[in-house]
Amino acid sequence: MLNENSPPAEDPGIIFLKVLYHLIQTAKIYDDNNQLTRESLTKFKVIFDEMTRKEDLRIQIWRGRFYVNGEKLPYRRETVRIINEMIEYFSGRGLGGLQFIMNSGEVSSENILKFIRLLDVSIKHEDPFNWLGRQIGGQALTWGQILKEEDDTLERKERGKKTYLYALDSIKEVADKASQGVAGVRKSRRLAQTIVDLVREDHSLVLGLSIIKVYDDYTYVHSVNVSILATCLGSYIGLSKVALERLCVCGLFHDLGKVEIPKKVLLKRGELSEEEWKRMHGHPLLGVRQILRMNMTKEMRSKIVLGPFEHHLNPDMSGYPKTHFKKHPSLLGKILRIADVYEALTANRAYRSRSFTPDEALRKMWSEIGKNFDPVLLKSFIEMMGVYPIGSIVELSDGRRAVVMNYPDESPKDSPRVQILIEDDEGGMTPGETISLSDRITENRLPPLKIVKGLLPSQLGVQAAHFFLKEEK
Ligand SMILES: [Fe+2]
Ligand SMILES: [Fe+2]
Repeated sequence: MLNENSPPAEDPGIIFLKVLYHLIQTAKIYDDNNQLTRESLTKFKVIFDEMTRKEDLRIQIWRGRFYVNGEKLPYRRETVRIINEMIEYFSGRGLGGLQFIMNSGEVSSENILKFIRLLDVSIKHEDPFNWLGRQIGGQALTWGQILKEEDDTLERKERGKKTYLYALDSIKEVADKASQGVAGVRKSRRLAQTIVDLVREDHSLVLGLSIIKVYDDYTYVHSVNVSILATCLGSYIGLSKVALERLCVCGLFHDLGKVEIPKKVLLKRGELSEEEWKRMHGHPLLGVRQILRMNMTKEMRSKIVLGPFEHHLNPDMSGYPKTHFKKHPSLLGKILRIADVYEALTANRAYRSRSFTPDEALRKMWSEIGKNFDPVLLKSFIEMMGVYPIGSIVELSDGRRAVVMNYPDESPKDSPRVQILIEDDEGGMTPGETISLSDRITENRLPPLKIVKGLLPSQLGVQAAHFFLKEEK
């Protein structure tokens, strides 16, 4: 019987990957009849027979992780090196995975070794994947199939960018029509569905889009970014799809009232007069009026009007607009407030000399927790964003500069994957290699690399989004 201290049983997928790795490594060095090769082959065959007894065995790489029969392999300190080396081994050969058909147990050890050797030497050929495919077919090793590497990253990034630009256009259109009293909500709801689907599929990508800061009209960029950040936070805390869609629409509409405020007040550098502040503080109510005039069902209206009304209210209902309710702001209102302040702090605004780096913004908000923000939600937000949010420009402990690309599952929150920035001859920055900082901690072979501090993109004269949305190396 297992006692409490016995180590957890090892994952069958990990066991398979280990014997496969071992066999590949041994076969690289020794010939077929060497005793070590034979031992490694015997070990492999026991596991292989067992795993193909009742079903096909499929190992696959997807978004930098191994899956065995659809189950993601856990990332543990002891296995991370093997997993990473195998990922490199596969992708060097254009392989996305291998599939062994059921009853491969009848396959001879000799054939297995043949398969492994083909796998190994395929890298010497110009197009390893196709070469391998031909060899496997030609040598009747069809119990083993190779799966092509799928790289949908670029396609997803393209889709993300398109959605973002479409969102900018749509919110501009809504604002134009709303001031004439002819706006509807149908298009925005469809857009919200697309954004919510993207968030649920890959929230790192969507968070990365929120670092886009194109400034032809900041109000719209801000609205789209707030909507994205709020939807990601809502998804992070487990809101339903319907609630997320409403939250997303609320984000898009939250500052709609600003279209009624003159540009010279909105964009004013320096102190606002008392009269101008009054006008600014009126925008949540003006926004509510715009939404109420829009063409939509009563039910929808009641669901999306509260968040925009509340987005400048503190948990104790101080802030603006002044209300006499004793209740607390609604959940959607509290989420919008966090997304709104974070976005505004990290944006380049004409009236302040410099914006906050993402990590500074989170620290500032943390210092106001409870007073200005709902504590539980702010904690979740910071947890979701990571110490250095996606898109942060950072300095590493070896002096290099990098962009934070994402936080792979289970990696510590201060150890993201980063893309190194290299200074070019003209003083600009070009993207270099991508490094996973958590691997540098778990792998003893390499000196650990840490983030020392966040930098302002303007200090380096770069746009973080430019790197984030580019192809990674
Ligand atoms: Fe606002
Ligand atoms: Fe706002």
